[in-house]
Amino acid sequence: MNIVQKEIAEINTDFDPLMDSSPAFLQNPYPTLHRMRARGHLIWSQRGNQWLVTSMEEANLILKSKSFGKALERWKHPSLIMRFVQRFSGRFGLQNILRQDPPEHTRVRGLISSAFVPSVVRDLEPQISETAEALIDGFATASSADLISQFAFPLPITVIADLLGVSKDDREQFRNWSTTITGSMQGNACPYKVVKSLNASFELRKYLRQTVAEKLKRPDESLLSRLAQVSSSDRDKLSEEELISNSVLLLIAGHETTVNLIGNCMHYLLRNYQDWKLLVENPQLVDAAIEEILRFDSPVQIVRRIANENVRIGKQSIRKDDVVTILIGACNRDGAFFHEPDRFDVFRENKKHISFGAGIHYCLGAELARTEARIAIRALMRRLPDMKIGNQQSVYKGPFALRGLQSLTIDPGCNSA
Ligand code: HEM
Repeated sequence: MNIVQKEIAEINTDFDPLMDSSPAFLQNPYPTLHRMRARGHLIWSQRGNQWLVTSMEEANLILKSKSFGKALERWKHPSLIMRFVQRFSGRFGLQNILRQDPPEHTRVRGLISSAFVPSVVRDLEPQISETAEALIDGFATASSADLISQFAFPLPITVIADLLGVSKDDREQFRNWSTTITGSMQGNACPYKVVKSLNASFELRKYLRQTVAEKLKRPDESLLSRLAQVSSSDRDKLSEEELISNSVLLLIAGHETTVNLIGNCMHYLLRNYQDWKLLVENPQLVDAAIEEILRFDSPVQIVRRIANENVRIGKQSIRKDDVVTILIGACNRDGAFFHEPDRFDVFRENKKHISFGAGIHYCLGAELARTEARIAIRALMRRLPDMKIGNQQSVYKGPFALRGLQSLTIDPGCNSA
């Protein structure tokens, strides 16, 4: 069976990208996602015991509706081990804002969001630039480099480690924890991966608990230190559990996704060299290019909600406790919403993608991620305008939920300016 036949077979036999995604699908999921949308805007997946949302209109309705929430521990996940993880996480805390509904969500998000307002992000720019330049120094004159491990990964992890106030010297350890934790984000993850993921999450929590204790003894200006003060003086405002769980969330969400934004963007540009050259000659277009890559090849491919009540969306009746999983990549390429959706177009006027979500859980780090990507890509364009993609095939790693490359080999193509 060739790849296309396999994809068609997958669609006809209740294909669910969260349950079973082949390497070919991970490499380029968009033809399959288009075929899924042709089947329906809300498709019931028997295997995944969930609705799959493929169109922009329905996605926005769901994300902005009070009829849907985050109490996903009520979900009867088809995999027993994943059901155990959901219940376990619900019962033993592990509460971060991504999993909370109002009023808890509103209270905790309010405390954290001050660290991500535009003025704070602007103040970080010199430090982001300095880090980007130093990283480029490390490979500019080499004959070959891996843009992911030598640039796209260390940049965001350094920024978020500094912002939180944890040691950036531990970044390889963060990367291992993060990769292991996110490795089980696939519906059919094997028990071994799930146990490893839970273990990594406990190790990271222990590390952060120790860091919080140190911050209480020796306070500083970092976010973790400020949140630790709030938590120790008023547990009604922020419990210790919420403090630790949100720190884990920020550390993981703060780098895993941004690595992929920079990586996916550079991958597209270097494979479509006329667009790279267009940007090199017109650096003012970088912001637009980042917005377009967010739509075109989103680093986050799913968001999930559970119905709080019976509700009708379009032609479908969703019952209380039904889970809906929004396929961001399908919605961002919805032809009813975006003109020529499969074309990367820097000059596109409609920029209303949902790669940062929508509604009350809209990504807190969106401005930080955009700023990091802008500084990173501008620095690469200025320092290495003749860089070329290497001969090795760039492989998209799983899980499907987080779309990014394993590595991106390049020939830096010049000496530093
Ligand atoms: C390109 C980079 C990024 C992408 C594509 C992305 C994507 C998303 C998406 C889709 C959501 C919504 C989830 C939902 O509705 O269930 C979200 C939420 C969130 N993101 Fe990001 N994110 C990125 C970068 C960051 C960064 C850099 C940080 C922090 C430093 C961050 C922190 C968060 C937090 C804390 C939430 C939860 C907000 C809430 O539940 O109220 N993200 N992100």
